[in-house]
Amino acid sequence: MIERVEQLRQEARGAVQEATGAEQLQALRVRYLGRKAELPRILRGVRELPPEQRGPVGKAANEARQGIEALIQARSAQIDAQRLERSLREDRLDVTLPGSPPQPVGRLHVLTATWRELEDIFVGLGFTVLEGPEVETVHYNFDALNHSPTHPARALTDTFYVSDHAVLRTHTSPMQIRAMEAHPPPLYVVIPGRVYRPDSDATHTPQFHQVEGLAVDEDITLSDLKGTLLAFARAVFGEEREVRLRPHFFPFTEPSVEVDVSCFHCSGSGFLKDGARCHLCKGEGWLEVLGAGEVDPNVYAHVPTTEANAPGYDSERVQGFAWGMGIERIAMLKHGIPDLRLYYENDLRFLEQFG
Ligand code: PHE
Repeated sequence: MIERVEQLRQEARGAVQEATGAEQLQALRVRYLGRKAELPRILRGVRELPPEQRGPVGKAANEARQGIEALIQARSAQIDAQRLERSLREDRLDVTLPGSPPQPVGRLHVLTATWRELEDIFVGLGFTVLEGPEVETVHYNFDALNHSPTHPARALTDTFYVSDHAVLRTHTSPMQIRAMEAHPPPLYVVIPGRVYRPDSDATHTPQFHQVEGLAVDEDITLSDLKGTLLAFARAVFGEEREVRLRPHFFPFTEPSVEVDVSCFHCSGSGFLKDGARCHLCKGEGWLEVLGAGEVDPNVYAHVPTTEANAPGYDSERVQGFAWGMGIERIAMLKHGIPDLRLYYENDLRFLEQFG
């Protein structure tokens, strides 16, 4: 009997060692330790054995049962550990690795970048940035800016009318009036924004951008205008630049000027090192960049004095200068962009060259 117990124990040990999964182990447990299995039956029959055999057989069978149970548990733990090890190896995931290749970062549109660059330059010179409405009244867009009732810019062919009294602003200059209505002198403001005119070709788009500037204070002269714009020209186009003022006409400035910057491509000579004529300034040595002038005293007369701007704008006491520059034009010159329409086509081959 004891031999049979020992045999069962050996058999069970071999089977348990060969088992490779939890289900197999469970089947072996039933086979060797289950209610109908041989070893438990021997245990149950111990009482019917002759008295001298009961002790040794009972002890051997009990030990065998405990031994098999321990073997099954040990093998089960071993199988679990192996499975864990395998899945750690096979499903390895390093959460510290970077994710999918990062998307290329976005960039500012060259017009936005230029807009901000210009703001920064003028903020550095002490100006404050304001913005104003794109749908503007005829009063602010033309009348208060001293345009005669028959001024050609008022024509339907030159201005988008929203109604008889409202237009899409044709320039940022109406904000000169609104700024003076809202704030007392001294006033130093720049106003970037969108403007609209019904033109469309390589150098005109129906929507474009300007930066208006207005400085009003006491003892302001044309040389303050020139110095301010010289600082701007050098910041944008390089420290060696010069500016030149040419007489011009705007209804709201007197005198009015067009401002040229010395050509940064040929250093103002009009010719390149190889003797060829400079294509950027067409051999002129100068690039036209903006319109400007001293604020016409008639313009102050259109600014009512209120609580908001008291003591108001008395042309006997204050003087000022103003300018308007096209953001498209500045970026075009600076980056050698040949056609204004490129700005608005959103062609990545163009956009990716900037920013
Ligand atoms: N508003 C003018 C234009 O659009 C530019 C300008 C602004 C001229 C301020 C003089 C002073 O052409």
